[in-house]
Amino acid sequence: MKVLKEIGDLRKEVRSVRRKGLKTGFVPTMGFLHEGHLSLVKQANAECDLSFVSIFVNPLQFNNKSDLENYPVDIPRDLKLLEECKTDFVFIPHYSEVYSAGSQTRIDTGDLGKDYEGAFRPGHFAGVVTVVSILFNLVQPDIAVFGEKDFQQLRIIEQMVDDLKFDIQIRRGKTVREADGLAKSSRNVRLSSSQREQALLISQGLQEALSLFRSGEKDAAKLQSVVTEKLARGKEVNMEYVSLVEEESLSPIAEATENTRILVAASVGPVRLLDNIRLEA
Ligand code: PAF
Repeated sequence: MKVLKEIGDLRKEVRSVRRKGLKTGFVPTMGFLHEGHLSLVKQANAECDLSFVSIFVNPLQFNNKSDLENYPVDIPRDLKLLEECKTDFVFIPHYSEVYSAGSQTRIDTGDLGKDYEGAFRPGHFAGVVTVVSILFNLVQPDIAVFGEKDFQQLRIIEQMVDDLKFDIQIRRGKTVREADGLAKSSRNVRLSSSQREQALLISQGLQEALSLFRSGEKDAAKLQSVVTEKLARGKEVNMEYVSLVEEESLSPIAEATENTRILVAASVGPVRLLDNIRLEA
């Protein structure tokens, strides 16, 4: 596994890999890796000859200074996990490698980025797609894998690739969960044990809504209230949104179908968590 910090070194490797005609997969991350990230790397490895992973905590996508300051970092641990996963190249750039001095260009994410995370974290998605497009230009992969846990982000990136004609296929990675259902997230380490218990209400609420849907309930308001009532039981849980949306457009729906996702954001104590579920039979 080669660790690269500078754009010049990355470009040399990318050119050499492309000359050999090898198929490459890319997983962009902000580090502090968990099994969710590693499953994306394994997915890239299974489909490609070589894999690239980037680790870059992107200040542009944090609208909250304390969230950025408290974002966990452990590069030696990440490198060990990536080595075990047979990653070929890890790119760990400094801020000044990614953003040129006086950098100004930002990508607008349109309607897909307006609601849900977009409403609660102004500027977040412009920061995400700007860094992802910079990384795509540098790594030039054939495929890039993104987790379904950040479903709105995934849809926005799929749309960006289509709109800006990146020659890259986006693959979806399934959400990886702890044995008790909590969606894996780098932020979970900041939960106290009582907060972690309360965080379980999110995946439990989503599972209950799915069961109700499977037993024939299609009314979006009723399915939504199953989740909101569940979250209300956690004394440190502050719900931000529970929204039933159509999978492609992310528009709110009144009647649930098999193309519906329930998107949830809630903070539990100081930690903001996201989860979602597809209502499938
Ligand atoms: O999902 C993430 O970890 C980040 O938003 C990403 C895609 C690596 C961009 O910084």
